[in-house]
Amino acid sequence: MITIKSKEEIDKMGKAGQILAACHKEIARMIRPGITSWEIDQFVEGFLAKHGAIPEQKGYKGYQYATCASINDVICHGFPSKNPLNDGDIVTIDMVVRLGDWLADSAWTYGVGNISSEAQKLLKVTKESLYKGIEKAVIGNRLGDVSNAIQTYAEAEGFSVVRDFVGHGIGMDMHEEPQVPHYGPAGRGVRLKEGMVFTIEPMLNVGQYFSKVDLDGWTARTFDGSLSAQYEHTIAITSEGPRILTEQ
Ligand code: MF3
Ligand code: CO
Repeated sequence: MITIKSKEEIDKMGKAGQILAACHKEIARMIRPGITSWEIDQFVEGFLAKHGAIPEQKGYKGYQYATCASINDVICHGFPSKNPLNDGDIVTIDMVVRLGDWLADSAWTYGVGNISSEAQKLLKVTKESLYKGIEKAVIGNRLGDVSNAIQTYAEAEGFSVVRDFVGHGIGMDMHEEPQVPHYGPAGRGVRLKEGMVFTIEPMLNVGQYFSKVDLDGWTARTFDGSLSAQYEHTIAITSEGPRILTEQ
């Protein structure tokens, strides 16, 4: 069942989202060759505590960190690590923030130092594909319109869309209905209604879309070793159009 959120509830999710957006802004300033994703994770814990918020991922199904830190060929769910980031790496930092009863979820891929032109294009197109999807998140459209806009744009730019991980409804729980694929036909799926809140979080690969998970049970990589990027926002369907809850 898809839970519909009231204006007040969406505002509360927006408060969590503002903290999350501010946190990403700080991370953007910290990212440089030599820093570790472990340090970023520690920073996030402190930042959230200072704002009275909680890192929801920590303890979720046994996950041990505030953030996921997914470097280069890692698609998602990478562990923060004490290995320094290198010039030319790309790293996706993903987190779910709880403020009181309500959650917000957002991921961003950062370039470390000077990144290749291919990596630059991957980041640009992945971010743009997210916004192509958001544009379609309006009352009366179907979920497949969001999915299809992302896939169409990503593939036209020469990248593939990961199939094995999708966006999701979110509210008081991290994962609610519906599932939000970033691929598939337009005109299908649930009709979007005012008060629905879900994430859109396309993961795009330079190579093929297939993934594999490491023996740690979490770290998901591209099967072919190619680069992967991700941008994610939590959005609400409102009578004024899509409201991005995780953007300042
Ligand atoms: N933010 C991710 C998502 O989009 C996180 C999930 S995995 C976790 O659902 F265990 F680390 F939380
Ligand atoms: Co998510």
